[in-house]
Amino acid sequence: MTATSSPPTAQADPANRPGPPLWLLAEVTYRCPLHCAFCYNPTDFARTTPADELDTDGWLRVLHQARALGSVQCGFSGGEPLMRDDLEILVAEAHKLGYYTNLLTSGVGLSPARAEALKAAGLDHIQLSFQDTTRELNDFLSHTRTFDLKQQVAGSIKEMGWPMVMNCVIHRLNIDHIDKIIEMALALGAEYLELANSQYYAWALLNRDQLMPSRAQLERAERITKEYRQKLGDRLRIFFVVPDYYEIRPKKCMNGWGNVFLTVTPDGTALPCHTARMLPGLDFPNVRDHSVQAIWYESEGFNRYRGTDWMHDSCKTCPDREKDLGGCRCQAWMLAGDPSAPDPVCDKSPAHHLVQDAVARANQPGALAARPLIFRDPKASRALSEQAA
Ligand code: FES
Repeated sequence: MTATSSPPTAQADPANRPGPPLWLLAEVTYRCPLHCAFCYNPTDFARTTPADELDTDGWLRVLHQARALGSVQCGFSGGEPLMRDDLEILVAEAHKLGYYTNLLTSGVGLSPARAEALKAAGLDHIQLSFQDTTRELNDFLSHTRTFDLKQQVAGSIKEMGWPMVMNCVIHRLNIDHIDKIIEMALALGAEYLELANSQYYAWALLNRDQLMPSRAQLERAERITKEYRQKLGDRLRIFFVVPDYYEIRPKKCMNGWGNVFLTVTPDGTALPCHTARMLPGLDFPNVRDHSVQAIWYESEGFNRYRGTDWMHDSCKTCPDREKDLGGCRCQAWMLAGDPSAPDPVCDKSPAHHLVQDAVARANQPGALAARPLIFRDPKASRALSEQAA
């Protein structure tokens, strides 16, 4: 993919400068052996070839510059970050620089030898994803035979003494297994369990009608989660990420645009969130051309939706404007066709009916659409890019 790049704009008033990007997410590759139907990577990810990826020196530069700016946590993500054979070098440097380091992985590629090397490099924490508690559904949803391997990897994560987050994306097809998912996290020795209800971006948006749970499913899952929380106390900390389509006020997406999160994509494009590159009228700078400091403080891409000045009047006059900062810009673009519109999840948004329609479809009897799921893979990605062109 051609790197997008915009020249820095004028320096904002220093008195209003945001804090540093505390959380750096290094999406080191889009390559992935799995083909999850809810993947958050952009649907046109295949435009970024391995040859377009930042090289080791490029990533080391990003780590140094972001840390100098004040980043404290560094997540290595993808795709599958273990597809990069320089991951250990990057983790070691991040550790040396004083980051708290986190690996977000499917587990594929975490051989005993690589686990040893990552431990020696100073990796602090691992988030391991599962798709379900059954081999059949796990392997169906990821379109790969990975269930047994993930179990083994969970065992070696614990043997190496890492704290483990088990992550499971929750949706219509697995939400009724919520109790079994919690039991599995306990059995595997996870300290944290993230039950991440699918958010409808990228591949999950394509498959929204197949993935969205009914209200009854969701309420049952929340009730069971609360019961387990009471029963387990500190033995397992369970995070239940609610699906925003069932809310009437939007989420404060990414904790505010350009507020805390800095994502660097495999080709070096810097973004305030995973999917912002699709937004029209914005060029996002590339770390090959600009320093992280200039990108964070001075680029048009990071400044456009900071704070509340950019808002339409309906958001500007809302008493919740500071609480949710207008919600999600990507969702406003995907659903309402205007990235500066109120997030259609908000029931004050003129486009809220689009969210309600999707929810209504999910709650009809026999709602599971006959159309098969579209799995994330390079061929599907190329076909979708061609259709969009
Ligand atoms: Fe991009 Fe919410 S995902 S602003």
